[in-house]
Formats: sequence, structure tokens, C-alpha cells
Amino acid sequence: MKTIALYPGSFDPITNGHIYIAERAAAVFDEVILSVLLNSNKNSTFSVKERCEMAEESLKHVKNIKVDNFDGLLIDYAKQKKASVIIRGLRAMSDFEYEFQMALMNRKLAPEIETFFIVTDPKYSYVSSSSIREIFHFGGTVDNVVPECVFKKLIEHFKINN
Ligand code: PNS
Repeated sequence: MKTIALYPGSFDPITNGHIYIAERAAAVFDEVILSVLLNSNKNSTFSVKERCEMAEESLKHVKNIKVDNFDGLLIDYAKQKKASVIIRGLRAMSDFEYEFQMALMNRKLAPEIETFFIVTDPKYSYVSSSSIREIFHFGGTVDNVVPECVFKKLIEHFKINN
């Protein structure tokens, strides 16, 4: 039986760090569904459609990755997709506390679903969607942290003349 892994997140926008994690997950599991959270408490910069399009474009070279969006509880969505694995990326110890709590809560809700952590490449350890958004918001740009299509979208969204 094939193993389906979900890689959930806000992906607002997808970064090279996310892409690294998705590629590594795809090398291990039969199918990876990168799942963009639809209704986040956070006000997202990009719409779910834009976030999905950027993720699809950035991961089109990996055949066993699909992009989807979800709403509600992650474990309900995982059951609906027949996924038995949740993937989360770890950058630093500071990620751990939140991730640990979420993994244990998800296990409490659905013991049959396993959370797997994939450690980032150190070159992406400082990369986060929020810092990238902030830099572009204030008119700055940063190279090699997001794919080309995302870079263009950030420039366009924040109307930066580069
Ligand atoms: O990229 P993010 O914002 O850190 O991703 C967080 C995400 C989407 C994985 C998390 O907020 C989530 O799973 N939300 C769905 C609602 C849910 O199941 N909450 C219970 C988690 S214990």
C-alpha cells in the first residue's frame, strides 16, 4: 500500500526552505500532498489560490508532489486524504516547542497518524515566510531564499521597482 504524506502549512509564500523539505519528503514517501491552510487566524498576504499556484510552479519538477488546500482540523483532512504521515520541517530549536506540542496534540486526536520531522538544510535555517514578507513590505529584496516565480510575485504584490 502506498504511503501518503501531508506537508501542511501556511506557505505565505512558499520559500526555498519549504521546497527543500518537500523534495526530501517526496524522496521517502510515495505521495506528498503539500497542503495550504485555507482559513488561518493570521491575515495572509497572498490568497490561497496564489499560494497554491506558487507552490505548484515551484514543485512541478517533483512528480509525486501534489498541491491542495484545506480547512478545519488537519487530522480530519489527513483521514479524508488517506494520509498516514504529517511532515513538518525543523529549522532550529526554537521551532521545536511549537512543533512538539502540535505533534502530540495531533497524536492525541489521531494516534494512527505519525508526524515526521525533516531537518532543513543549514543554508535555509534563517529563512521564514514572515521575514521575507516583512523585507519586501518595507521595499527591500533578498536573493536566493524563494524561487523566481515567488520573487516576481513579491515584487508585484509590494510594487517594488527592482
Ligand atoms: O506553516 P504554519 O503556519 O506553521 O502551519 C501550521 C499548520 C497549518 C500546520 C497548523 O496551524 C494546522 O495544522 N492548522 C489546522 C488546524 C488544526 O488542525 N489545528 C490543531 C493543531 S494541534
